[in-house]
Amino acid sequence: MASLTPPRTFHVTSFGCQMNVYDGERMAELLVAEGMSAAGARDTADLVVLNTCHIREKATEKVYSDIGRLRREDGTTPLIAVAGCVAQAEGAEIMARAPSVRVVVGPQAYHRLPAMVAAAAAGGRETETDMPATAKFAALPRRRKSGPSAFLTIQEGCDKFCTYCVVPYTRGAELSRPFADLIAEARALVEGGAREITLLGQNVNAWRGTDDRGRAIGLAGLAEALAAITDLARIRYTTSHPADMDDALIAAHADNPKLMPFLHLPVQSGNDRVLRAMNRSHSADSYLKLIARVRAARPDIALSGDFIVGFPGETEAEFADTLALIDAVGYAQAFSFKFSPRPGTPAATLGDAVPAEVMDDRLQRLHARVNRDQLAFNRASIGRRCNVLVERRGRQDGQWLGKSPWLQSVHFTDPAAIGDLVTVELISAGPNSLAARRVD
Ligand code: SAH
Ligand code: SF4
Ligand code: F3S
Repeated sequence: MASLTPPRTFHVTSFGCQMNVYDGERMAELLVAEGMSAAGARDTADLVVLNTCHIREKATEKVYSDIGRLRREDGTTPLIAVAGCVAQAEGAEIMARAPSVRVVVGPQAYHRLPAMVAAAAAGGRETETDMPATAKFAALPRRRKSGPSAFLTIQEGCDKFCTYCVVPYTRGAELSRPFADLIAEARALVEGGAREITLLGQNVNAWRGTDDRGRAIGLAGLAEALAAITDLARIRYTTSHPADMDDALIAAHADNPKLMPFLHLPVQSGNDRVLRAMNRSHSADSYLKLIARVRAARPDIALSGDFIVGFPGETEAEFADTLALIDAVGYAQAFSFKFSPRPGTPAATLGDAVPAEVMDDRLQRLHARVNRDQLAFNRASIGRRCNVLVERRGRQDGQWLGKSPWLQSVHFTDPAAIGDLVTVELISAGPNSLAARRVD
């Protein structure tokens, strides 16, 4: 049983995508604005927020094991709040299955977290899973401090309804935050120390808005307006959907020098039958043509993708099409997942499951291809001069870690400080990082 005194310290653990990381930061800011402070460690916090992800099966199970692990040696538990996408999808079940959970709050309702925590501390159990997010952003405090690289959610939700995916159900319909709010938040982040901002959305390139001169703009227009913030050096965005990759955004990769040469553009499969069954609105060929246009605009762009292996009924020949697409693109990095049937999604009822050992084998073969291409991309970077945004200290004495424009991890040992944008030459490459020396 948790104590009935109001919590003074808190800890937020975020799982899942970068939008959840952003939400976790905003929840922490809300709690600080209420006079609470961040606990030094999770096991001393009065309040623990588990900011959960529902995207694959293991993620959900992890939540329940994490709730169990919050029980302390003396038998007490902190006040537990479950936030994020599992809260949205399975809030009632969590309340029933985990009596130690006192607050369940969905991703579009977390502006109410402080009030719910107060009510729970007074003995209640609180659930709030309202959508959409219109009220949330307006209720969040102004941003103050930021690391060199900051996240900024500009768009939420998804209308695409890929047949395997829970996001349209957990995050709701596509919603773009207003232009003026985003410029204000970006300025606050930059004043707080950010030199790089990554614009976030489940379909970030579906963002639409009206600029300060009343013109209808998309992500390219927003990136252009953000580029006018002098101390902001770099702009990134993720995750994009192929269907929303418009001409203006492609052109921005040629014209906007602050837009980094990196594009995460998930394709999921290289086979058209599978893509149709997934309700992806592109074919393998239309995706490759899109990539060619992006590369024509920005020849050095680094490409990244997401893949699902073992979608129901996927044959060896269909999987081979995915490997062929990987060969054709040459990704600088990629994320791959075994198909996981999610409750309430159409693909979960398709039957025709691919056996687990076949999925494992395909995942391994896909990994091998992607690792090969990632190493090749990194090796091809040796000798390049580029800037690196220094984000933190490395493990070795005097070592600094940062990211290249192509989102590679770069380490070097020359003098520097966190937040510096230094010019380096890349001197050696491994599969996951590059060594560099300063040349400025
Ligand atoms: N909105 C983004 C990201 C969605 S979630 C997009 O459309 O690309 C991130 C990735 O998780 C997806 O790209 C997909 O590869 C994977 N994923 C989503 N649902 C899944 C499922 N049911 N099983 C396995 N992987 C899944
Ligand atoms: Fe999920 Fe598809 Fe939407 Fe991405 S585009 S969030 S994979 S439904
Ligand atoms: Fe997970 Fe929700 Fe993000 S399901 S991937 S936390 S949108």
